[in-house]
Amino acid sequence: MDVFERFEEIGIIPVVVLEDAKDALPLGKALMEGGLPAAEVTFRTAAAEESIRILAKEYPDMLVGAGTVLTPEQADRAVAAGAKFVVSPGLDKKLVKHCLKNNIPVCPGTQTASEMMAALKLGLTKVKFFPAENAGGLKMIKAIGAALTALRFMPTGGISENNVREYLADPKIFCCGGSWMVKGDMIRAGNFDEIKEKVAAAAAIVKEQRAK
Ligand code: 3PG
Repeated sequence: MDVFERFEEIGIIPVVVLEDAKDALPLGKALMEGGLPAAEVTFRTAAAEESIRILAKEYPDMLVGAGTVLTPEQADRAVAAGAKFVVSPGLDKKLVKHCLKNNIPVCPGTQTASEMMAALKLGLTKVKFFPAENAGGLKMIKAIGAALTALRFMPTGGISENNVREYLADPKIFCCGGSWMVKGDMIRAGNFDEIKEKVAAAAAIVKEQRAK
């Protein structure tokens, strides 16, 4: 199964900001036990690389990747740490080409038809739609997706337990990204039981949706 098939199987990819790599292990445990065995660890903090290393080593079955990747050099560092995929906020051709050349699964952020066309031209069929709710949400994906039929989307930004069902129900969507079940304040406070509960609730939504 390729990485994007696993994205689709898991359904919701938790987007995580880790300030301290010591939180990686308990977070990984909460994600695994809660039923979303995936993490997009954003390269926004100094702890990101080490956190990916810890998660990849301790949880080899987890789909661990790097988010907020802006440069080829960051993509290489993430992969060296054990990242199995790279996500970026926007479409940077140099970054995408570098990832494709090095067989690094990459999912760049897009928002406009032009950016999506550029992604298609680079050979991609799966893109992130970011920031999803601010950029027009599912309505926008449906409108642009009707023209760009080869593309499928991972909406991220503003997704929550309140709107994720509608996104998951649309065949244009291969998975959703979001941080609502792994918010920074819960991580900082060490509330890993609460995180596990929210992860389990999110996993239950995916299961319910897939059963339809
Ligand atoms: C982010 O930028 O952190 C991700 O897009 C997640 O967005 P969210 O916090 O709205 O889920």
